[in-house]
Amino acid sequence: MGRLEGKVTVVTGAASGIGLACATRFAEEGAAVVGCDITESSGWEPVAAAAKGNQFHVVDVRDEDALKAMAAAAVAEFGRIDAIVTAAGTAGGGPVHLISLEEWQRVQDINLTGTFLSAKAVLPTMMEQGSGSIITIASVEGLEGGEGASTYNASKGGVVILTKNLALDYGRIGIRANAICPGFIETPMFDSVLNLDAMAERREQIRYQHKLGRFGKPEEIAGAAFFLASDDSSFVTGVALPVDGGFTAGHAVGIAEMMGLGPR
Ligand SMILES: NC(=O)c1ccc[n+]([C@@H]2O[C@H](COP(=O)([O-])OP(=O)(O)OC[C@H]3O[C@@H](n4cnc5c(N)ncnc54)[C@H](O)[C@@H]3O)[C@@H](O)[C@H]2O)c1
Repeated sequence: MGRLEGKVTVVTGAASGIGLACATRFAEEGAAVVGCDITESSGWEPVAAAAKGNQFHVVDVRDEDALKAMAAAAVAEFGRIDAIVTAAGTAGGGPVHLISLEEWQRVQDINLTGTFLSAKAVLPTMMEQGSGSIITIASVEGLEGGEGASTYNASKGGVVILTKNLALDYGRIGIRANAICPGFIETPMFDSVLNLDAMAERREQIRYQHKLGRFGKPEEIAGAAFFLASDDSSFVTGVALPVDGGFTAGHAVGIAEMMGLGPR
């Protein structure tokens, strides 16, 4: 028996990368899964096949009414919502003097406002139940600054604080809220930024800052989301959890290797 048997989960950004990995893991663990994305998913078939009623909706997370309709569809089919993962997101880079107001607004709208609206869509159901787990996907870039990424970092810092506020406001009625802060994870978004030819050297420097010496896999973020959706995390709320191969542990400059602690 799966360890999320009987739970109803919602995943945004479920067509690709981290969201798709979360939806897949939740389905494997026996949860009902309602997913959405702004585009159709090509990887959703195993999730749809895992349980009767699992649904995929085409939804823009900037559209409050569409998110509410998806939450209503989940409740109509399954009667409750136990967890949501807000994985819909977009990359965005550049130092401030090069970012147009439109680009700044686009990134905040999808990453931060989209997270706010997604949580808002499921909260009435969770409040009525007196239970629920809100799992936001922030970033290590929401915990510390990053060169040339001010609009993305600001949006993810906002997601971290929004999540802590959700934990503060709804904890006493049984709703938990936690942010997962991934390091660099091999997904289409990662490819769009780090696999550019111009980034080859930087990519290796960024890889080096992951103390495990590699980038992460979407399934490794899904593992943390599974924990936060499950009752094993029943006393965990208000946390911004780095799942980052040690990226935020400190700065590595090669002294460990000098002492014989390099790759074997
Ligand atoms: N890949 C990484 O290194 C990494 C690191 C830290 C955080 N994250 C975050 O993880 C989340 C998932 O990213 P990913 O790496 O899986 O990227 P991805 O591009 O594979 O997936 C993101 C998904 O979000 C969807 N999306 C974008 N705008 C949307 C909108 N307006 N409405 C609905 N869906 C929308 C995309 O269509 C896509 O399917 C994002 O929030 C991202 O910022 C990623």
